[in-house]
Amino acid sequence: MKRNHDKIAIYEQSDFEGMRKAGRLAAEVLDYITDYVEPGVSTEYLDNLCNEYILAHGGISACINYHGYPKYTCISANHVICHGIPSAEQKLADGDIINIDVTVIVDGWFGDTSRMYYVGKPKIKAARLCDVTYECMMRGIDVVKPGAHFGDIGAVIEEYAHKYGYSVVDMFCGHGVGKVFHDNPNVMHCGRKGTGPMIEEGMIFTIEPMINIGRKDGLILANGWTAVTRDKSLSAQFEHSLGVTKDGAEVFTYSPKGLDRPPYKK
Ligand code: MF3
Ligand code: CO
Ligand code: CO
Repeated sequence: MKRNHDKIAIYEQSDFEGMRKAGRLAAEVLDYITDYVEPGVSTEYLDNLCNEYILAHGGISACINYHGYPKYTCISANHVICHGIPSAEQKLADGDIINIDVTVIVDGWFGDTSRMYYVGKPKIKAARLCDVTYECMMRGIDVVKPGAHFGDIGAVIEEYAHKYGYSVVDMFCGHGVGKVFHDNPNVMHCGRKGTGPMIEEGMIFTIEPMINIGRKDGLILANGWTAVTRDKSLSAQFEHSLGVTKDGAEVFTYSPKGLDRPPYKK
């Protein structure tokens, strides 16, 4: 692996095979957990199920012990922006929306992906936020190709979110991924077209917009991890890991079962 002038890693086509495996396992975890998301279960229960699936399929969680992080996944409900820490006390309730964020390591490669889930029946406003957030991520992915700029990603995401009156969180970014969890560049989810480093074939990174119904501002809880919206408004997020190809992007974390976004039919 080389690095370009912006210190962004450039991977070989042969490296993409490693990312395909890691990305696929991370996506399979999110597929597997779908049926277990229901009112009454604790987020710790879901976290443990994810970990068992990861271990049974040749991976390990990248999250546990990462800078002291205490659990295997992040599970962020309602007004939690990201890095919700699963706990036995937190029981899901009908109408909650949650993000489950899974990062696995397979043969040294990191696959990082997250989706929203409905607990029972979502409120119309919550479902619309999830729909728009998914669309934001996909629009970001759609502009990725050699010669585009990282600012182009943020520009299309911001434009689409603002159309619905939503705000884009700017205190967390997507990131380079591959042989390490969090690498250059920071992939901003807002910005201006034509700004930022140029996107080149062989780059591998995540796009993971966090979109709020209310204001973009967040704060970190006393546990040192969990970010919540200051105004307690709902927040949603989706995440894919992808690699830049000759003329576009290869997404490593699509759902093998087509469960990329809710509702997930039972
Ligand atoms: N998976 C998150 C991301 O998308 C990072 C979680 S770090 C943890 O980058 F330590 F909180 F797990
Ligand atoms: Co990520
Ligand atoms: Co993630």
